[in-house]
Amino acid sequence: MSNDAVYASGLLNRALDPATQPPEIRTFLQAEIELLDDIIADGMAVIDVGCGTGRHLAMLRHVLRIGVGVDYEHAYVVEAHRRTGGGRVHFVTADAARLPVRAGFDFATCLTNTWGTMSDKEGVLSEMRRCAPHAGTRLLSVFSDASIPARREWYSRFGHAVVNETPESLLTDGGLRSEHFTETRLRSLVGACTIRPLAGIAYAVTF
Ligand SMILES: C[S@@+](CC[C@H](N)C(=O)[O-])C[C@H]1O[C@@H](n2cnc3c(N)ncnc32)[C@H](O)[C@@H]1O
Repeated sequence: MSNDAVYASGLLNRALDPATQPPEIRTFLQAEIELLDDIIADGMAVIDVGCGTGRHLAMLRHVLRIGVGVDYEHAYVVEAHRRTGGGRVHFVTADAARLPVRAGFDFATCLTNTWGTMSDKEGVLSEMRRCAPHAGTRLLSVFSDASIPARREWYSRFGHAVVNETPESLLTDGGLRSEHFTETRLRSLVGACTIRPLAGIAYAVTF
């Protein structure tokens, strides 16, 4: 099973259920929210790539001039729209490597190791660069090696036992393949970027 099929089976809703989340994962999710609170200023136009059910744009909706969330899993987009859509926040079903929007965003995000589950990583970076054209206005949050024990626990709690571990990824019996990164690997994939540790198990990468 591919990650596409795993997401289509509704994995995200189980993963976002706090009951499945070890404390390290909850701390990481909270750290991402605090980071967004620090970065996103009043009146910004923001695109969230791999937005899932739209929780980050929902949180930011009162400060944004415009928010666009893109996800290839239509059921998540429908749910995001039901919860938060309308007004200044919009959700679109599309592939992150072929974003159906023009440039003109102040900031682009790809959060919660979403990029670490995407196959065309370079294509996604390129689209984020196109949509938010200024250096330093694109943010990835990705897992580091230190996340492995907490992720093993988290994945197994939402029904995906880890069956294979490599220096770059975990693979579960349900078919989820999720990568983790070293600073060196991030620099080789992203190029010029700023990397900051996040919650002890992840990195915030701006480029
Ligand atoms: C780890 S979840 C995170 C969702 C959301 N960012 C959050 O933090 O709640 C990853 C999301 O990326 C979406 N996704 C994965 N690959 C994608 C792609 N190539 N294009 C668009 N969306 C993708 C999945 O459907 C899923 O909703």
